[in-house]
Amino acid sequence: MPHSQKPVRACICYPNTFATLRQKAQEQGWHTVEQITAATGCGSGCGMCRPYLQKMLDTGEVAFDVIISEEVAALLKRR
Ligand code: FES
Repeated sequence: MPHSQKPVRACICYPNTFATLRQKAQEQGWHTVEQITAATGCGSGCGMCRPYLQKMLDTGEVAFDVIISEEVAALLKRR
């Protein structure tokens, strides 16, 4: 990650950190972005967080480098 770039850590439209969302997902047994969106709203606003939510579910990470457009397409295509 470039030194000046801050990691992406949260949904902005429905303020929740990915750390909080990961914990809720583990507690509630959510395995899809759609389940997270239905329960929290995250992903239903601007949608910017959707690829990050998918990556969180895939990897367990909660802070990300900015995802470039090619990776967004790949993450969202798998759903
Ligand atoms: S940042 Fe999550 S819906 Fe906009």
